[in-house]
Amino acid sequence: MHRARGRATPWYRAKVAPRRHTRSASPSPAAWPLLAALGLACGGNEPAAGHDDGSEGGSSGADGSGGSSDGDGISGADGSDSGGTTDARPDWVHDVAPLVFEHCVPCHADGGIAPFSLQDYDSAATWSGSIAAQVQIGLMPPWHALTTDECAPPLPFAHDARLGEAQIQLLADWNSGGAPQGDPADAVPLPEPPSLDLADPSATVAMGGSVTVAPQGGVRDFFHCLSFDPGNSEDVFVDGLQVLPGNRAIVHHVLIYVDEGAESAAWPDGVSHDCGGGAGVGAATLVGGWVPGSMPIELPDGVGLTLPAGARIVFNMHYHAGDDSEQVDDATALSMRWSSTMPQYVGRFELIGAPGAGELDDPPFSIPADATDHVESLQYVVPELGVPEVRVFSVANHMHKVGVDMRTSLTRGSDDTCLLQTPRWDFNWQRLYGYDADIGAMPEVLPGDVVHVRCTYDNSLGNPAVVDALAEQGLDTPQTVALGEGSLDEMCLAGIGVAVRVF
Ligand code: HEC
Repeated sequence: MHRARGRATPWYRAKVAPRRHTRSASPSPAAWPLLAALGLACGGNEPAAGHDDGSEGGSSGADGSGGSSDGDGISGADGSDSGGTTDARPDWVHDVAPLVFEHCVPCHADGGIAPFSLQDYDSAATWSGSIAAQVQIGLMPPWHALTTDECAPPLPFAHDARLGEAQIQLLADWNSGGAPQGDPADAVPLPEPPSLDLADPSATVAMGGSVTVAPQGGVRDFFHCLSFDPGNSEDVFVDGLQVLPGNRAIVHHVLIYVDEGAESAAWPDGVSHDCGGGAGVGAATLVGGWVPGSMPIELPDGVGLTLPAGARIVFNMHYHAGDDSEQVDDATALSMRWSSTMPQYVGRFELIGAPGAGELDDPPFSIPADATDHVESLQYVVPELGVPEVRVFSVANHMHKVGVDMRTSLTRGSDDTCLLQTPRWDFNWQRLYGYDADIGAMPEVLPGDVVHVRCTYDNSLGNPAVVDALAEQGLDTPQTVALGEGSLDEMCLAGIGVAVRVF
């Protein structure tokens, strides 16, 4: 079943990106001198003094988006390279700032998760070429659930971050026109950047103890479990949930469980060291996860996760020591939003693939060194469920650094519904893609249906993520890659959010 993929040039080898970066949380080295010169190094530093006269800084909260994306009346390149002319359009104050505040500043703010800010004219102008290129190839804003020749997802996705054609063109025209500022006196009101945090949490609780991580010999991957007391005095139904990783340098991923019996309450300081791959207690229900790039989990209307009074939440934390320094996490926290009204559907997550439920089409799972178009695929036949109705509301694909493309689908007879394809896999941008529809319109799962997951890997030095992963281990030639938890191991795992109808 290793069918030819017919992909001439993989996206990560295409010459469209202005430069290759290391995909760590900092800009490419080439960008540093420039940033430093502007006093714009990442991590919450204030922009260089001076130039910003404040007229575009204060966001007024007005909608401000009108006219930003229609591209009308924009002359684009007029040949003049002078960035300071006041009448060339599109310009920053009228056109670009409103778009950037809405779509980029949630991350590209001082102290945000992106390595540089786009909050003021100077910094945005510095990056205009790279901005145009990144939005053109669709790598920014980060969004990896794509429609392809072999995948037309059944429903639109919630919070789809993709820009429209006119917006992409506007940023290209701004760059080719010399990134003019326009007259700050004409600045339009800027939209409030949308928040990336869970709205209206009912409770936010932080870990009780601390965890220290440092490489031990060649071992860099560690599994520790954290127990949280959400503090609900009655049974509740959770409809929103956010993992707040305490130290992003070492948190590789998090699995979230409900520990109904509150066994984990016995752990000293709420920490169970080296708890292995699960919840570290007898029985627990997987309800979600966090991986780099994740947004808060929000369940569709009418779906909730059951959280009995007295139950605990357990995080299975996969920590990865990326460098040789000793790193501490003492701040990982959990935010939840709940209601006491019983929902029509109860949600949970199923892990299908390797390592999860399902059978490999062609065992064993092994990716030879230097293989460039290697496929591993699995199938899972849905058993008799004994419940009236089950629907898929979200899907998260998961691989590590060798993966380049993953497709998850549901088949019934000859009908194949592609649930999610992530053809430009980037370990740093994983998320749960939820559908934007009524729960009753989401794909139904029936006994006998087959979930297929197919993962494609490039285990060669042509894959920048492989180069990085090898370098971390002090290696420079590709290795045979097996199934496992480490960053130089691989997975082919779909986390599927399912809603089970209860009445
Ligand atoms: C969800 C957070 C997020 C949003 C939204 C976002 N970015 Fe980014 N951006 C990042 C992060 C993090 C990086 C660092 C590189 C990486 O991790 O991929 C980055 C990197 C970049 C880069 C540098 C890429 C390179 O390596 O040369 C550019 C340019 C960029 N973003 C532009 C934009 C623009 C323009 C928008 C809005 C249209 C946007 N980003 C929206 C998080 C975001």
